[in-house]
Amino acid sequence: KQNPIIAPSILAADFARLGEDTAAALAAGADWVHFDVMDNHYVPNLTMGPMVLQALRKYGISAPIDVHLMVKPVDRIVPDFAKAGATLISFHPEASEHVDRTIGLIKDSGCQAGLVFNPATSLDCLDYVLDKLDLVLIMSVNPGFGGQKFIPMALEKLRRVRRMIDDRGLAVRLEVDGGVTAENIGMIAAAGADTFVAGSAIFNAKDYRAEIAAMRAAIG
Ligand code: DX5
Ligand code: ZN
Repeated sequence: KQNPIIAPSILAADFARLGEDTAAALAAGADWVHFDVMDNHYVPNLTMGPMVLQALRKYGISAPIDVHLMVKPVDRIVPDFAKAGATLISFHPEASEHVDRTIGLIKDSGCQAGLVFNPATSLDCLDYVLDKLDLVLIMSVNPGFGGQKFIPMALEKLRRVRRMIDDRGLAVRLEVDGGVTAENIGMIAAAGADTFVAGSAIFNAKDYRAEIAAMRAAIG
């Protein structure tokens, strides 16, 4: 298990002042920026694309940007996000015709690759691709919206993936996304996660720094 990473989901930030709000979360102690891309096709919501990511880089955001693609198809948008300055690109296996090929495409574009599993998606394909991934993301809500409640079943899934990663001696990060709060992050860390996305818990807090500190304290 690697050092804990806190990745605020800027889906919950103030879109009218996205650069400032993202910088504020990083200045308050966040490690990465979690960038949710929704297409009103794979998920029933519409958010932001590569131009917005590029604008954040231009604004001066230099932290790793963790792009969570909730789009279908995946492949044709990957080079655009890589060019815009993505650090890591994750996608859902259901959204790609050829999961192994998409992972290769992300890596060839110079980014790290992650695979995302919805609450009811089986982990089967991990058997074949885990060693090629930089990150596995376990969804603890159904994707599409921020501010939903954590689905406890995700804990069992995190334990299973943690076991797979450790059994194979890999350095793959294990990320969790959806309904993460300072109250439940301790048990999520205990289940094996080392990378924590939190949207509303951080951006709805009055004091980002205090909220992130409370999360780190609970992770232990
Ligand atoms: C949901 C997104 C999440 C979301 C998390 O589809 O992938 O990243 O922003 O928001 P919270 O932390 O509010 O559940
Ligand atoms: Zn996300």
